[in-house]
Amino acid sequence: MEKLKVLITKAQIQKKVKELAESLSRDYSKNDYIILICNLKGAFIFLADLCRKIKVPLCIDFIATSSYEGTESTENVRIIKDLKMNIMGKDIIIVEDIVDTGYTLAYIIEYLKLHHPKSIKVCTLLDKKCKRKVEIPIDYTGFIIDNRFVVGYGLDYNERYRELEYIAELSR
Ligand code: IMP
Ligand code: MG
Repeated sequence: MEKLKVLITKAQIQKKVKELAESLSRDYSKNDYIILICNLKGAFIFLADLCRKIKVPLCIDFIATSSYEGTESTENVRIIKDLKMNIMGKDIIIVEDIVDTGYTLAYIIEYLKLHHPKSIKVCTLLDKKCKRKVEIPIDYTGFIIDNRFVVGYGLDYNERYRELEYIAELSR
């Protein structure tokens, strides 16, 4: 039996998303426009809430990667959906749901660099810092969490639970 225990409430998420959007708006107030690159699928709800709170001009694009099998990360990151926009010379912010080992983000960053953006920053809702295998710079972090498997607010377990308005720990 899968069991859910609320870890981060809807109100806590909303407050944090607003704070992150304020930081981003402040940091990019002098820029032309920014491009938010959402790593699908997990970050789609975070992106939707975040972009509506950001006060600077922006564009949105999507990339999709795959590396997780069940509840475990693997090193074999693959791009399964590529960018549509030309990001050359642009200020990019990668929007992630969660950074675990870091393999996914490290791969995406290296991949995006090949397209010569002006800058790349990372905004993640959750950071499982204790599981990190590769060092990556994270510029905006929502919550640091322990080594728990979490679902909700976009995050899934075998494609389920993405629709929850809160983040819960899943145990089996
Ligand atoms: P990494 O490559 O190990 O950093 O894994 C990053 C990806 O694994 C994230 O973008 C998520 O899609 C997925 N992931 C990592 N931890 C969790 C979790 O606790 N719940 C759901 N998905 C997770
Ligand atoms: Mg993800």
